[in-house]
Amino acid sequence: MPVQAATRIDRKPYGKTASGEAVELFTLSRAGAPTVEITNWGGYLVSIVAPDRAGKAADVTLGYADLAGYLADTSYFGCLVGRYANRIGKAAFSLDGKRYALSANNGPNTLHGGPTGFCHRLWAAKVVSGKDGDALELSYVSRDGEEGYPGTLTATVVCSLREDGSLMLDYKATSDAPTVVNLTNHAYFNLAGEGEGTILDHVLQLESDSFTPVDATLIPTGELQPVAGTPFDFRKPTPIGARIDAADEQIRRGGGYDHNFVVRGTPGELRMAARVVDEKSGRVLEVLTTEPGVQFYTGNFLDGKVKGKSGKPYVKRGAFCLETQHYPDSPNQPGFPSVVLRPGQVYRHTTVYRLSVAK
Ligand code: GLA
Repeated sequence: MPVQAATRIDRKPYGKTASGEAVELFTLSRAGAPTVEITNWGGYLVSIVAPDRAGKAADVTLGYADLAGYLADTSYFGCLVGRYANRIGKAAFSLDGKRYALSANNGPNTLHGGPTGFCHRLWAAKVVSGKDGDALELSYVSRDGEEGYPGTLTATVVCSLREDGSLMLDYKATSDAPTVVNLTNHAYFNLAGEGEGTILDHVLQLESDSFTPVDATLIPTGELQPVAGTPFDFRKPTPIGARIDAADEQIRRGGGYDHNFVVRGTPGELRMAARVVDEKSGRVLEVLTTEPGVQFYTGNFLDGKVKGKSGKPYVKRGAFCLETQHYPDSPNQPGFPSVVLRPGQVYRHTTVYRLSVAK
């Protein structure tokens, strides 16, 4: 491969954390690929700039204009979520007969790793080189007992731009004692551009035949419910807004879509999970993952109060998230794929975001 076709990473200072640690911003660029910015504060995906049908570039992810915004973020605008992405019911779980208490930060439940999860930590950053040129390696060591979780967990995420222009996140984690782990990225996408209204007319296809229905606090009941005949059926391309306000108990509980879908196929194999098309701009996003599930969230909690990186309000349903993951509350659900990580084992997760333009 010619050298100029490979990914190049530029790094620059991005400010300081409240405790004075230096934060950096990394820009990944490659011919034919969107330009991607990532910071080692919380591993936030700061921007993804991609052309539309006419070749006009726009940033398709929600975020803030500067580090101060990310330091104060409560919406998880593109961060690396851990130690356990999504919810753990009643903020507790048992492992090998021992009960672990976590901090509740979402009603009675723990959400996205607790009040100071991986999104709110400084990750160590290293530019490494591989077959696609430069890649960004972020790592975070979570101490034994942090946020209530047992075991020292070392998490590493390698971010790279592949030859086909897609962004790949390769996650790995190990622990020195039995623990639970579920890592994801919480990017919010609007394929028309951040702050450009709602995503209700984006057309979604999900490779899912079932989803995990939830109780009133968004904890899965443990069942897998077929999507057939429900507003959760995205097996054929369907506008996100078509049934988002349907008179349906699950839709009501989520305030729209805020549910984990079971990705068809074999977990561990990289396969298509979702495809989203914005017909106006022509931009297409495909999400491939090795994970068993994906949380489809439609920005139901956005309310226009946050003005994003270019000053436009982030309105309700102004973005969608496709958080590739293990099912929520798996530590308390013996029927769900296991999230237990033991010493000597390696947690692995690969997710690919592929942006293109519809023909
Ligand atoms: C996830 C959750 C939502 C919400 C967002 C962040 O998608 O499932 O309920 O908490 O994160 O606002």
